[in-house]
Parts: sequence; structure tokens; C-alpha cells
Amino acid sequence: MRPANLDALSGRSLVAGVVGAPVGQSLSPVVHNGWLAACGIDGVYAPFALHPDRFEAFVEGLRGGGVSGLNVTIPFKARALALADGADHAAQAAGAANLLLFHPDGTVEARNTDGLGLLTAFQDQAPKVDFKDAPVVVLGAGGAARGALGALLDAGVDRILILNRTQARAEDLAELFGPRVKAASLDQAGAAFKAAQVLINATAAGLEGADAPILPLDQLPSGAVVMDMVYKPLRTPLLRQAEALGLATVDGLAMLIGQARPSFEAFFGQPAPAGDAARDWALAHLAAS
Ligand code: ATR
Repeated sequence: MRPANLDALSGRSLVAGVVGAPVGQSLSPVVHNGWLAACGIDGVYAPFALHPDRFEAFVEGLRGGGVSGLNVTIPFKARALALADGADHAAQAAGAANLLLFHPDGTVEARNTDGLGLLTAFQDQAPKVDFKDAPVVVLGAGGAARGALGALLDAGVDRILILNRTQARAEDLAELFGPRVKAASLDQAGAAFKAAQVLINATAAGLEGADAPILPLDQLPSGAVVMDMVYKPLRTPLLRQAEALGLATVDGLAMLIGQARPSFEAFFGQPAPAGDAARDWALAHLAAS
């Protein structure tokens, strides 16, 4: 891991971090501390591993205090939104927050930068993709899928089809998001893929393991792009299958770094450095872990 920005730390350091249970697998400290060092900012970004019962008490204790903000990861994202005093549109649409900001007046603001991260990942790795041209198929109907739907609709996507192992959850989400979003069963994946330009896996599973569905990726048009939010492993079974068919792919690490950029600016008051350095640090960290 790139060393923290120790030379620049003073009594006035800005402090931020990531909270999760577990949090040890998070790449966010590698990314944010690397950027802090690159910018010479007087700040530090720490991982906070919490007992699941202690989340609210921990956040309450930080109100108006010395921590500028937190990224929030599994399993706390919905609870982060619930305890905040205000939330941006993205967090409300996603029903979850991945970012909490502690203001000096004691209030807590919730934001969600995951959707922005998703769109940034496509810009970085599949810049020619045309979301508006054909339906986007989203696999999964949990929190990650909900966040993706909000961002895609805000980006102007006309038609989204949700496929989920439990179809009733897909139907509930479609109803929540209105007429541009439909649900279908996994049995209908082949027909759905024929017209799709983009396929996004928003299941936590990475679609690996004995109970994962066999997806007919060969039905996708040759210009389609396949994205997987899972970044461990970076080349997931879904992405490897897509690559073998000659399809373009977008990986979950690009989304992670895409959500980290606006988080960094919110915590430390200046944009993260441009370029691919954070990806290189994260790849080195993944390779070593
Ligand atoms: P998250 O907040 O990460 O989205 P979640 O709300 O628990 O987590 O949702 C997990 C998603 O992954 C769900 O869509 C789930 O499908 P079900 O609704 O049928 O449970 C999906 N999922 C998890 N494991 C899966 C597997 N092995 N195959 C297919 N889908 C899976």
C-alpha cells in the first residue's frame, strides 16, 4: 500500500474514512490516501470496522466533530440514509447512502456517489456506449441495482429491464421507478439480451458458484457492453464470458474509483488528481491480498 501522507499531517489534518462490517477488504483507504499524498493534502483516510449494532452510535458521536465525512459500505448504506438530516436526490432514489458528511452545525448530510461511479466507469472503459439507443438490462434487484437504476434514469436511459433470481423483487423495483423500467424473469434473458446494448450485473454474487444462472450472453448484439460491479476478482466469470465472445467490458474497479472521486472532493475540498494512478495502486493491492 502507498504510505499515508505522514509528512503533511498536522494538528489541523482533515480526517475521513470508510465504515463497514467488515471493512478490511475495502480499497478506499488505498485510493484516498494515495490521492492525499499525491496532492500533498494535510489529511488522512482511515478504515473503521464496526460491530453491526454500533453504526448509529458511532455516527451520532461524530456529529459536528473532527471527522469531515465517511464512506459507507455493506451493510450500513440504507441505515446511513435513515439517520441523516438531509440527503441528495441520488441517495433518495437509491434508498441508500455511500457518503455521509459531518457539518460544523452538527447536521449529517447523506449522498450517494455510486451511480455517478457507474456512469464514470462506462465513460472510462466504454466511452462509445449509447445508453439511449437500446434497453439496458440490469441483473439484480437489491440495493446496488436500485442505485444503478436511479443513475441510469437520471442519465436519460429510456428503457431498463431488470432480471432477478427472485422475480417479485424485480417487479417491485420496476413499479417503484415507473414506466421506463420493466421486470422480466431470468428465463426470458435470451430474448431480452437480443435487443440490449448494455448488461450490468448488480448482484453481489458476481454470478459465480453452483447456484448462479447460466446467462446466454451469446444472444447479445456484437456491439453490446457487459459491466460487472464486482471487482474481486476483477475479471469475474461474467466478464470473462463476455470477453470470450468479443464483447466490450467495464469492471467494478472503474466504478469504485468513479464513486471515490466525488467523495474525495467532498471530504478534502479539492478534486482528486486526474489519471490512472489510483487504479494501479488498487490493482497492486488486489494482487498482494
Ligand atoms: P446489494 O445491496 O449488494 O444489492 P442485496 O440487497 O442483498 O445486496 O441484493 C443481492 C442481489 O443479488 C439480489 O438481486 C439477489 O437476488 P435475489 O433477490 O433473488 O436474492 C442477487 N443474488 C445474490 N446471489 C445470487 C446468485 N447466486 N445468483 C443470482 N442472483 C444472486
